[in-house]
Amino acid sequence: MSKQPSGRLEGPEYLRGNVDAWQQEAPSYVAAAEHAWASDEPYWGIWRIPESSARLLPDDMSGLRCIELGCGTAYVSAWMCRRGAQVIAIDPTPAQLETARGLKREHGLDFSIEEAFAESIPYPDESFDFAISEYGAALWSDPYRWIPEAARLLKPNGQLVFLTNSALMVMCAPDFESEGPLGTRLLRPYFGMHRTVWPDSPGQTEFHLSHGDWIALLRANDLIVERLLELQAPPGSTTRYPWANPEWATRWPTEEAWCVRKT
Ligand SMILES: C[S@@+](CC[C@H](N)C(=O)[O-])C[C@H]1O[C@@H](n2cnc3c(N)ncnc32)[C@H](O)[C@@H]1O
Repeated sequence: MSKQPSGRLEGPEYLRGNVDAWQQEAPSYVAAAEHAWASDEPYWGIWRIPESSARLLPDDMSGLRCIELGCGTAYVSAWMCRRGAQVIAIDPTPAQLETARGLKREHGLDFSIEEAFAESIPYPDESFDFAISEYGAALWSDPYRWIPEAARLLKPNGQLVFLTNSALMVMCAPDFESEGPLGTRLLRPYFGMHRTVWPDSPGQTEFHLSHGDWIALLRANDLIVERLLELQAPPGSTTRYPWANPEWATRWPTEEAWCVRKT
């Protein structure tokens, strides 16, 4: 990963495609960002599951060195900062970082927001107690690149939490959003899932792994699974994401959160 003369971060092709897509998407995430920054109680994922039931953050964050990997508009970083953590928030998309910096000024919080890819983060080994990604690196970065980097950054006994789409969601989503939300047929294979390029959005690459492949990758990087939370939509849930199906999500997980610890 290097900085080109233009000042733009460069890397493998999927990185540039995803950053270009997020430059376009950023304005449509501003309203949700304002809502999340204004909330004292963290909430997670597309069903806004409250932290009081998901419990993804450590009980006591005071003084913890924390990094958010693919922070987007950085509301997770804001929640950690308000809990007393020393936070670094990284993301490669300038337009997302602009929203994050504006909201940081507005809310008067003090943490560092930096332009970087989760695949290559300019901090020394064992710099952090806690790393988190909510649909940031966890979805948009190749796990075979960002998991080793997250493991490198964590201190021994440090914790990594990441939340992303479930493997089941990836298998059940129609190719095109216009075909409707998640259905009950398996449309693509479980074995070998890694990169997904939806025909709707040919310039973007998402990454998903089967549970067996996640565990093998985590173990290879000295990360032990403490908890796999399969998030269930509460009855009556709504979401702004057209691909999601609230009724489906009360029966099967659309999202999963992995809580792992470095040995
Ligand atoms: C849905 S946002 C997630 C962040 C936050 N939870 C939010 O919703 O605003 C996805 C973010 O992933 C970032 N992203 C894309 N590729 C990345 C990479 N290789 N490393 C880290 N972040 C990346 C994008 O720039 C985007 O801001």
